[in-house]
Amino acid sequence: MTSSTSSTSSTYTGLLCTRFGQWSELALTQLPRPPLAAGQVRLRVRHAGVGFAVSLFVAGKYQRKPPLPFTPGTEAAGEVLEVAPDVARLQPGQRVIAALDWGAFAEEVVIAADTVYPLPDAVPLAKAAALPITYGTTWAALQWRAALQPGETLLVHGAAGALGMAAVQIGRLMGAQVIATASTPAKRAAALALGAHHALAGDAETLAAAVKAVCPRGADVVFDPVGGALFDASLRCTAPEARILSIGYASGTIPSAPANLLLVKNLSVIGFNYGYYIGWGLTDERRRYAPKVQPLVADLLAAVAEGRMALPQTQHFPLADWHAALDTTLSRRAIGKVILDI
Ligand SMILES: NC(=O)c1ccc[n+]([C@@H]2O[C@H](COP(=O)([O-])OP(=O)(O)OC[C@H]3O[C@@H](n4cnc5c(N)ncnc54)[C@H](OP(=O)(O)O)[C@@H]3O)[C@@H](O)[C@H]2O)c1
Repeated sequence: MTSSTSSTSSTYTGLLCTRFGQWSELALTQLPRPPLAAGQVRLRVRHAGVGFAVSLFVAGKYQRKPPLPFTPGTEAAGEVLEVAPDVARLQPGQRVIAALDWGAFAEEVVIAADTVYPLPDAVPLAKAAALPITYGTTWAALQWRAALQPGETLLVHGAAGALGMAAVQIGRLMGAQVIATASTPAKRAAALALGAHHALAGDAETLAAAVKAVCPRGADVVFDPVGGALFDASLRCTAPEARILSIGYASGTIPSAPANLLLVKNLSVIGFNYGYYIGWGLTDERRRYAPKVQPLVADLLAAVAEGRMALPQTQHFPLADWHAALDTTLSRRAIGKVILDI
C-alpha cells in the first residue's frame, strides 16, 4: 500500500467497505479523488472519531445504508483543501471539524459545507474529532430535548463511553448534579475524573437502590446510550416529572417503556436522533437545520476553547491500526472516544 497525501495526486488512502458484512473485512486502499459539486468542500482529514455505530453501518444495519462501496467514519477534524464557488463561510486552509454521512476514515473527503464547522485556534485538532457528533448529540439532547436545568440531577449510563463522557461534562457545564454509571472501577474512576459527583455500577439489579442512596428524590433526567435492562431499571429511580433520553442501544437490546409507569410518575421518555438534524433522516434536512446546529456547535467549541469544559478524553490509533481501533470500541474496552490519526 502506498500513501498519497499530495493534492496533485489523483488518489488518496482510505478504508473501504465493498460489501455489507463484518467490520473486519474493511480494507485500506487507494481511492480516486472525486470532483467537487456545488455546496461542497474538500477536507484533508487529520483525525477521525470511531463510534459504536461503525459496525452497524458496515453490516448494513444502520438506519440508512450508504451506497457501496463506501468509506465509513462520520466525525472528522482537519483542514479545508478546496471549496465550491458558492461556499462563502469556509476558506481553504481553515481548521475545521465536520459531521459526515460517511467517509472520514480516509486522508480526504468531499462533503456538504453545511455540517463543517470552523475550529477555534485554542482547540487541538487531535481532540476535536470527538466533538462534532458525540458532543453535538449530547449537547442537543440535554439542551433541546430534556431542557436540563441547573441544580437538577442527571443520571448518565455508559459514562466512560464516548457519549456518556460527553454527558458527564456537558451536564456539569449546565449545572447539574451528575450520577454516572459504568461497568468497571477504571471506567467509574474516569467518569469521576471528568466531573461526575457519584459513580455507580452499571448494574440493573442494584441501580434503583444505589441511585436512591445518593439522591433520595431520584434523577430528574436520564441520559441513556445503553438501553436494555439499564433503561428498565432507570424507570424506577427517577423523580416525578423526570425526562428519560433514549439515545442508543449499545447493550444490543432495544427496551420498551410500560405506559402505566410513565403515567404514575409523570415521566417522559424522549427519543433523540441527532442524525435527523445533519441530513441523515428519511429526507435530507441538513440545510434546513444548519442555522440551528451551527450555533450549537459554535457554543460547544467556545466552551472548550474558553476552558469552561475540559477537552474530551481520547484514545488514539494510527490509520494503519484501524482494526485495533474498531476492536477496542466494539469490545467495550474503550474509555472515552477512540480516534484514528490519519
Ligand atoms: N441518538 C443519537 O443521535 C446518537 C448519536 C451518536 C451515537 N448514538 C448511539 O449511542 C450509543 C453509544 O455510542 P458511544 O459512541 O458512546 O459508544 P461507546 O463509546 O462504545 O460507549 C457505549 C457504552 O455502552 C456500554 N455498554 C453496555 N453494554 C455494552 C455492550 N454489549 N457493548 C458495548 N458497550 C456496552 C459500555 O459502558 P459500560 O461498560 O460501562 O457498561 C460503553 O462504554 C450507540 O448505540 C450509538 O449508535 C446515538
